[in-house]
Amino acid sequence: MIIAVDGPAASGKGTLAAALGRHFNLPILDTGLLYRAVGHAVKAYIDLPDIEARALEAASNLDLEAIEPEYLISAEVGVLASKIAVYPSVRRALYQAQRDFALQPSGAVLDGRDIGTTIAPEADAKLFIVAAPEVRAYRRARQLEARGQKVDREALLEQIKERDARDAGAAHGGFRPAEDAYLLDTTNLDIEAAITAAIAQVEAVI
Ligand code: C5P
Repeated sequence: MIIAVDGPAASGKGTLAAALGRHFNLPILDTGLLYRAVGHAVKAYIDLPDIEARALEAASNLDLEAIEPEYLISAEVGVLASKIAVYPSVRRALYQAQRDFALQPSGAVLDGRDIGTTIAPEADAKLFIVAAPEVRAYRRARQLEARGQKVDREALLEQIKERDARDAGAAHGGFRPAEDAYLLDTTNLDIEAAITAAIAQVEAVI
């Protein structure tokens, strides 16, 4: 079984993917980490003209096993990730690792932006998680603060809106829900209610 969980920055897709992985006993890949690892690796070159070539090289040499999430969770790295994610060459370089993860015999849960449309269009269940930007910024602030990071909440909301705008950009056609995705709006749901809704939706389609 393959479950695709897509949605914008800080929509709660990571939390829901983790809960679905536990519930259905499936391995989980947070594909945002791949883009974050590449963005982080080329940070020094991010606004230079050769950024695409640098990011492509970093993406081509990326070792999934070596990714260390704790360095990659900040909002700043999220912005770096969204800058290199616009290059089709970089997206192609990151495709196979995601595809292989999806196709492992155990099945898998993948969360990202284009899992249901590009990485695993044959997924058994596709969720597209949305929530109002202010709610997403608030949740992400609490998550970062819980990890001991100091958070400028206004700046965080701006970063989320900046990423939304770039993620919606024309360079790679924008991210939209797959036609057969189930839209789950978590704006007015707490975590437990969102998890219950996500599990119910997966159970309804498998
Ligand atoms: O999901 P997360 O916030 O960690 O993703 C960081 C950035 O990486 C996103 O804003 C997006 O630009 C990019 N990304 C992507 N495709 C994915 C996952 C993330 O383009 N499947």
